Amino acid sequence: MKTYNISVIKGDGIGPEIVDEAIKVLDAVSYNCGFSLEYKEYLMGGIAIDMTGVPLPDETVQGVLNSDACLFGAIGGEKWDTLPRELRPETGLLKFREAMGVYANLRPAIIYDELVNASTLKPEVIEGVDIMVVRELIGGIYFGQPRANDGFKAYNTMVYTKPEIERIGKTAFELAMKRDKRLCSVDKANVLEVSQLWRDTMEEIAKDYPEVKLSHMYVDNAAMQLVRNPKQFDVIVTGNIFGDILSDTASMVVGSIGLLPSASTGDKTAIYEPIHGSAPDIAGQGIANPIATIESAGMMLRYSFGEIEAADLIDGAIKKALKDGFRTKDLAAYDAKEVVTTSEMGDIIANNLRK
Ligand code: IPM
Ligand code: MN
Repeated sequence: MKTYNISVIKGDGIGPEIVDEAIKVLDAVSYNCGFSLEYKEYLMGGIAIDMTGVPLPDETVQGVLNSDACLFGAIGGEKWDTLPRELRPETGLLKFREAMGVYANLRPAIIYDELVNASTLKPEVIEGVDIMVVRELIGGIYFGQPRANDGFKAYNTMVYTKPEIERIGKTAFELAMKRDKRLCSVDKANVLEVSQLWRDTMEEIAKDYPEVKLSHMYVDNAAMQLVRNPKQFDVIVTGNIFGDILSDTASMVVGSIGLLPSASTGDKTAIYEPIHGSAPDIAGQGIANPIATIESAGMMLRYSFGEIEAADLIDGAIKKALKDGFRTKDLAAYDAKEVVTTSEMGDIIANNLRK
């Protein structure tokens, strides 16, 4: 039987609870689809600081590099917020992304029919929204040198090389080919040189993808358009910091941050994680919504393992759970027939898979 090795990083806050539910669902679907999964757990984030003194132990990097894919919960919390920058959980996360070479961060924002009312936008504006934000993840202003803060003057550098733009551009065009073939590249080319190179490079790549309709948008306008008329977007490709901001906006357009997964892929091991954070305020109460993490596990099957049938089954099982009126507490106000706990939601989705 085909076996995939999954490295698991549960992290902090609600991380362990939601990852456990994703594993429950993965086990159910793998049994059905005739492959097997092996898991190994590694430390990262606040729990790693507490247990080893650093947010990203070397053992974690090595273990994940040796695995076929990484399932990631969430990291961080108030307890570690006052540590010096190099010891913060967030710094560990950025180092981790860099070590895995995951330059492409895919953040889908889709609307579930059952939850159109969960958005703050009008139903007619958001019905049918299906956007894929492709964010460059290991370059741009997050990593650019020089960077410093001497207490009087502080600076960061937004830098991209042409090869960096080309590889993320190709990822986005390839994705657009599999979708509605519309790609919007977001930049600030009216002000920034780095954005001009970004735009010129996207135009060059477009020659290899004549079927894809490429457009360009300034980031301020894109933020506005996402809220005004999100259906105009299919795939959005953008740099690290613009993608950070726009993907949060896109997630709120569809109104259910607890439902959105992400994939970070590149040269080495891909990382799959919910886009929401570690929510320490609700940790341990059994009220976290595990769906984003379960969806992320589905993306892992689809993108890393090519187990399309299994990934589709997970999508269907989640939709059925929502259709049947099961809601975790965060979504209790939206047509809930029954409010369930984190682990009950996992059970319901896992049971929906067993035909
Ligand atoms: C995200 C987060 C991170 C980022 C933080 C925690 C460093 O906001 O994954 O979007 O800015 O990339
Ligand atoms: Mn963010």
